[in-house]
Amino acid sequence: MAQALRLPVEQRYPEEFAALRANDKDPKPPGWRMSPRTVETFILGSQGKALEYEEDGETRSCVIDKKFYGDDVLVQRAIVTMASDRGLLLVGEPGTAKSWLSEHLAAAVAGDSLLAIQGSAGITEDQIKYSWNYALLLAEGPSKRALVPAPLYLGMRDGKIVRFEEITRAPHEVQDTLLSCMSDKVLVIPELAGSDGVVLAQRGFNIIGTANTRDRGVNEMSSALKRRFNFETVPPVEDLNEEIRIVRGQVKNLLEGTGSDDTEFPNEVMELLVTTFHEIRSGRTMDGIKVDQASSVMSTAEAVSVGFHSALFASFFGKKKVEPEHVVINLAGAAVKENRDDVKVLRNYWDVAVKPRANKELGLWKAYFKARKYLR
Ligand SMILES: Nc1ncnc2c1ncn2[C@@H]1O[C@H](COP(=O)(O)OP(=O)(O)O)[C@@H](O)[C@H]1O
Ligand SMILES: [Mg+2]
Repeated sequence: MAQALRLPVEQRYPEEFAALRANDKDPKPPGWRMSPRTVETFILGSQGKALEYEEDGETRSCVIDKKFYGDDVLVQRAIVTMASDRGLLLVGEPGTAKSWLSEHLAAAVAGDSLLAIQGSAGITEDQIKYSWNYALLLAEGPSKRALVPAPLYLGMRDGKIVRFEEITRAPHEVQDTLLSCMSDKVLVIPELAGSDGVVLAQRGFNIIGTANTRDRGVNEMSSALKRRFNFETVPPVEDLNEEIRIVRGQVKNLLEGTGSDDTEFPNEVMELLVTTFHEIRSGRTMDGIKVDQASSVMSTAEAVSVGFHSALFASFFGKKKVEPEHVVINLAGAAVKENRDDVKVLRNYWDVAVKPRANKELGLWKAYFKARKYLR
């Protein structure tokens, strides 16, 4: 049987959505699938509380998982912006869950997270608004039938959320095609006459953009476009234990359906992995010792990736239990990307942070230290 590698958010949590819908008593903004409070619960979780719902004549219950860790008020403000006349722009370092949050918001608010545009240097206006089926265009001239809608067209027509990923990577003139759609809430198709040539945005329509501070900056967005967005800066996770929880949860999700989900990932090994990312990212250990910082992003998303690889490694070539050395073996690929000097950063970390802990015989740090031979 064929299996999707990754389901869109709106299909990933059927029980949660059923439970949330059944318990959603608050009014919904026009065009929304859920009330703002329920969107919030979907993203921040029900804090262990089970929500009851009926299915197939049975009463069931479901606890809503926490999906986003960090500032709860940031999430609430984001939800408010979604209901306003401005777009939402999530800004921050790579790997801070901007795309993740935007997918979850779009799925909860509009029931559809797939209306997505990927910003790139080569993107054109017709990938955002609409293009034409050229065979039909030549045969019949411009007609509604010959028009091929792109995400912005569909989002406006159907009152849904459009996601614009890495918006600042798109050329200015392409970014600015959003202007009239965002302020006048109308998309004009000059080739078509009459009402076919005008798409009026329906209630529920809005745009969530994401922008990485490491790419071409947000400063390079035109000020006209900036005015049409509310900005939210998404910071890296500050709390180590929270980050461990995120990485553990994500690695478990990634392993599902791979055939390696029975691999054991001991908490202590997970701690080594996440502590390494956390400390190199902040340039300081928990005990206040300075460590070198890498030019690559030591983000939570990268930690998730190393965790996943380590688990697969343990499953394929180990004893189905992740050992400290599996983490080290898979670390360099994530930490050393554009700059070979980042290997030195890792070695420095092993000398300055790992060694003292190994000498004190703390937990698995000794085994972690021994595995430094893989840092080449
Ligand atoms: N604060 C956070 N809460 C939940 N998950 C997070 C958080 N920060 C990072 N992650 C995890 O890391 C990944 C972030 O990836 P992504 O959303 O693609 O980052 P970005 O778009 O900011 O570059 C997600 O899969 C998510 O699981
Ligand atoms: Mg992203």
